[in-house]
Amino acid sequence: MKFFIDTANLDEIRKFKAMGLLDGVTTNPSLAAKEGKIDFRKLIADICAVVQGPVSAEVISTEADQMFAEAEELSAISEHVVIKLPTIPEGIKALVRCVEAGIKTNMTLVFQPVQALIVGRIGATYVSPFLGRLDDIGQDSMEVLAAIRQIYDNYDFATQILAASLRHPLHVVQAATIGADVATIPPNVLDKLLNHPLTDIGLERFLADWKKIKA
Ligand code: E4P
Repeated sequence: MKFFIDTANLDEIRKFKAMGLLDGVTTNPSLAAKEGKIDFRKLIADICAVVQGPVSAEVISTEADQMFAEAEELSAISEHVVIKLPTIPEGIKALVRCVEAGIKTNMTLVFQPVQALIVGRIGATYVSPFLGRLDDIGQDSMEVLAAIRQIYDNYDFATQILAASLRHPLHVVQAATIGADVATIPPNVLDKLLNHPLTDIGLERFLADWKKIKA
């Protein structure tokens, strides 16, 4: 399973890139807004230069023609840009045009398997089920993810399943167990992936014992 980072923060991206943890990046308008008053296109160009892998940039229009125009403009920034489109009827129309134009896509705000079936049939590059947001409203997100995996395997869809809205390390493990192709992970969860108190205690003991040998 590939790891993407779910942030628009360049420092976080550099930090996890240096640890060899990153294959790509996902951003969204809320994550971009957290960076304050920024030039969004420049930010996407800078992220692409650091990561050299798929970087999702979301359109903000809600009408297909404008979405496609935005998609053309954003995808011209770098070969790494992937266009995030909302999975609404206009987004589906824009997806058809992007597929025809060879523009890479990430269908976002997916909450049920049938939405994933539709975008897989059309040929989206990625589909993003938002798992944490489903758990937040008391639904079993992993049931949804498993159904999408099953559907895609049944029909050999090339669309990659990008597990999104991950809240904790267990989500990452569950997504990998089900067979998501990618997990996009926020920085606070990436930090937790390598944390275990027994690792810290074990290291402390090893180093203390080593000092005894030297003494
Ligand atoms: C994915 O591409 C989205 O940016 C993201 O995972 C949404 O996560 P949230 O539900 O924590 O906002």
